[in-house]
Amino acid sequence: MTMTNQKPFIAGNWKLFLTSSEAVELVSTLQEINHEFEEAQMVVIPPFTALCDVHITLQGSSIQIGGQNVYWEEQGAYTGEISALMLKDVGCTYVIIGHSERRQYFGETNATVKKRIKAALSHDLTPIFCIGESLEEREKGETIHKVQTQISEGLEGFNEDTVQKIIIAYEPIWAIGTGLTATPEQAQEVHGFIRNELSEKYGNETGSCAIILYGGSVKPANTFSLLKEKDINGALVGGASLKAESFIEIAKEAIKAYKEK
Ligand code: PGA
Repeated sequence: MTMTNQKPFIAGNWKLFLTSSEAVELVSTLQEINHEFEEAQMVVIPPFTALCDVHITLQGSSIQIGGQNVYWEEQGAYTGEISALMLKDVGCTYVIIGHSERRQYFGETNATVKKRIKAALSHDLTPIFCIGESLEEREKGETIHKVQTQISEGLEGFNEDTVQKIIIAYEPIWAIGTGLTATPEQAQEVHGFIRNELSEKYGNETGSCAIILYGGSVKPANTFSLLKEKDINGALVGGASLKAESFIEIAKEAIKAYKEK
């Protein structure tokens, strides 16, 4: 699959919300107005238990689905884990890796992130690789250093071709689920850094084509100004993706912003 940042990429991370029937209801509503989304790449990321039904409901739709995490082994005695093969089997094309909630509550490290990215790519799943700083790190002026370390350790040993298959999501931890959003300028500063870093390490083409998402309290009211920034190619949306109306509004605002870029 060739990736393009020519249209906005809007992914809804449903976290630990929605039963299978609730998730199906939500995608059915999204699908009714599917024609709105030709100018955006839409992805929904339900809990594992809803993937199968959501996939069936979305047959023939341009909305893609993804998993919220993936283990690095394909199979084996790893109770509670899920593999890339299994995600692929239920129709996933994307997978979130290294979300700050996984790092914070479930011991995720840059080293385990790297293994998960490798496993995802070996099954043609596009990783949505999450990075971002805490409030304390931002206040100490360590944002760029933090993001740079997450990139260099999470992508260590990968070549240009591999990095071109990865989507990066910059999610400042202090903005996730808090209602606080990075200003467009704050977000652009980090996105610009990430793109430059990718260009320097993996060549100009990798940097210029990279899809770099912003995440952290994205809602209809702030989507336009964020997405208008040069290096912001889309959004990873949590809370506001749980309601069809707000998720749709975000997609519309993103399309509008892209037209004006
Ligand atoms: P939020 O979550 O939009 O609810 O802040 C974003 C995320 O965690 O990906």
